[in-house]
Amino acid sequence: MGKNIIAGNWKMYKTNPQAVSLVRQLKRRLEKKPANKTMVIVCPPFTAISRVKDELKGSKIAVGAQNISWEEEGAYTGQVSAQMVKSAGAKYVIIGHSERRRYFKEDEKLINRKIKLALKNKLKVIHCVGETLEERKQNLTQDIIANQLEWDLKGVKASELKNIIIAYEPVWAIGTGKTATPSQAQEVHAFLRTLLDVFYTEGTGKKMSVLYGGSVKPANAERLLSQPDIDGALVGGACLAANVFMKIISASEKVGK
Ligand code: PGA
Repeated sequence: MGKNIIAGNWKMYKTNPQAVSLVRQLKRRLEKKPANKTMVIVCPPFTAISRVKDELKGSKIAVGAQNISWEEEGAYTGQVSAQMVKSAGAKYVIIGHSERRRYFKEDEKLINRKIKLALKNKLKVIHCVGETLEERKQNLTQDIIANQLEWDLKGVKASELKNIIIAYEPVWAIGTGKTATPSQAQEVHAFLRTLLDVFYTEGTGKKMSVLYGGSVKPANAERLLSQPDIDGALVGGACLAANVFMKIISASEKVGK
């Protein structure tokens, strides 16, 4: 398996019956048209992880969680731990998503704790970074990305990076229908790889999978995915219907590196 990944972030959508129906359709479509170059990941809400995992028996589609607690366990009403999502069937977890940074006030320190905890519990991390529109307008994109990457990954060892996937998600492009142009995204992706080389060792960036996220849809997927430094996509809205998500997987297969 190469570095090409198409991950679907279901956010707060899909009851259990809806979740089952979606993965059944996806599984069927992928049986007819297998993805050989692309790793497909679905990230349902906590409540559906176990059901989705059962439904995906015999399929190569992997399951991820959308969040974990910053603590291993304890009296934290409403929280869900790394071990819990792992035992429910998740292999991946999204950490640092801008919706969590924004609505749940997650800062770099907390994200760093979650990343370390996920790695300790053998979950692979989909680590999101990205700037807001104001930050982009003020020419702060690179500063913001560098800052997030540096602090979120503080203390993460080079040997652990194989379990981390980076997702560049400009906040202004998430759920807005506004996508970064392929060249805007490419520029940040190349910068991210350079940063990884600087923070770790030369050649690190090249080895990692860097996804783009923010209003990815069938109409723009191929152009984005064909950029040299874009290895895949983290898809929100367009992953909620199997036929639409499948088109993005097909675009990845077509340009697969
Ligand atoms: P979107 O969401 O595709 O709906 O913009 C992407 C994400 O938040 O991961």
